[in-house]
Amino acid sequence: MSSDLDLARTFKEVWAELSGIGRAPDGGYLRFAWSPAEVALRDWFRAQAAARGMPVINDGNGNLFATWSADSAGPGGVLTGSHFDSVPHGGAFDGPLGIVSAFLAVDLLRELGFQPVRPITVAAFAEEEGSRFGVACLGSRLLTGAIDPARAAALTDRDGLALGDVFGAAPAGARPDLVGAFDAYVELHVEQGRALTQPVGVASAIWPHGRWRFDVAGEGNHAGTTLMSDRRDPMLTYAFTVLAANKEARLRDAHATVGRVEVTPNATNAIPSAVRGWLDARAADEATLAGLVEAVAKKATERAGRDGTAIRFTAESTTGEVRFDEGLAARLATLLGDVPILPTGAGHDAGVLSAHLPTAMLFVRNPTGVSHAPAESATDEDCAAGVRALARVLQELSSRPLVDHDEGVAGHE
Ligand code: GLV
Ligand code: MN
Ligand code: MN
Repeated sequence: MSSDLDLARTFKEVWAELSGIGRAPDGGYLRFAWSPAEVALRDWFRAQAAARGMPVINDGNGNLFATWSADSAGPGGVLTGSHFDSVPHGGAFDGPLGIVSAFLAVDLLRELGFQPVRPITVAAFAEEEGSRFGVACLGSRLLTGAIDPARAAALTDRDGLALGDVFGAAPAGARPDLVGAFDAYVELHVEQGRALTQPVGVASAIWPHGRWRFDVAGEGNHAGTTLMSDRRDPMLTYAFTVLAANKEARLRDAHATVGRVEVTPNATNAIPSAVRGWLDARAADEATLAGLVEAVAKKATERAGRDGTAIRFTAESTTGEVRFDEGLAARLATLLGDVPILPTGAGHDAGVLSAHLPTAMLFVRNPTGVSHAPAESATDEDCAAGVRALARVLQELSSRPLVDHDEGVAGHE
């Protein structure tokens, strides 16, 4: 079997195949869903699957599935994988690490002479970050029926292009036939903070979180001639909202971020007529999150009254608390040598799938603790440890399925 050194070298070689795709001069990545860069990564996925004799299907929602099975059956068994898309100028590892590790774990299992009792399927989920169409985990939400395909088709990107037009049709939506064929989902992901101090860990939970767009309307006017007392400046309401979000989050040990803003008309010498911002809020539990968003909206609305502006909040994408299957997490942590079990504030397709099948996540240490930014990192050695851990988990779960499929098994074997 590959030594740790060989595996780290193999990881480095395969990783290098992706590193130039969608890379910006600052070292961050622009890999928006269905952009040329993300399509190139999808082509890479198909080539990797073909090289391993794994047939690929697209589920009609943009998610790709490549399956290794004894009898060339369709997707089923243990599902693993992640996503290729990135946030603007995101890190290299968030997403692609889970897909690369999945293919390398298949190689490792084959090298061991392992034959899966149930298939092993590698997935590339679409639009996990929601950076293009605004809804996080869009592909897995469509697959599991968590979003209406008509609503998804109408979502527009920053250029006003609708998802339905990118697809050329409405997405297929819920695929219970496909979801029901899987025994479990295991997503390997780079850890996105500084919480993991050894190479590999297992996830316990995902904080509830969401995105709220807030639109502030005021009155556009001349920067030089409009008296300060006559202004209805939405930028003031916006600035106050950002500060209120920060204060209210700190009071609750929660997280609040305003990382995106659009100003109309966006001119140096004009009071804006409108400002649109996006609040990303996360907390350890749903009551705290609801209290945070409510407090920010209340303070912002009061401030709008004083500024002579109007503010409106719209929930664009929300995710409830996810508690991964405790028994499965404990079993995997033991299997991997008593590795730590830890929660995360980051969202994942695994969170969406966990409502439908036993789901677990493996984390790989991130020495910078930075994510969604170019400095995100993981060493080749830790990534190799991640591949080995994932292979061990796939071996375990595809030998002893967690789910009794009855008809499903009959249909696939
Ligand atoms: C996805 O990475 C998120 O947590 O926003
Ligand atoms: Mn991310
Ligand atoms: Mn991710």
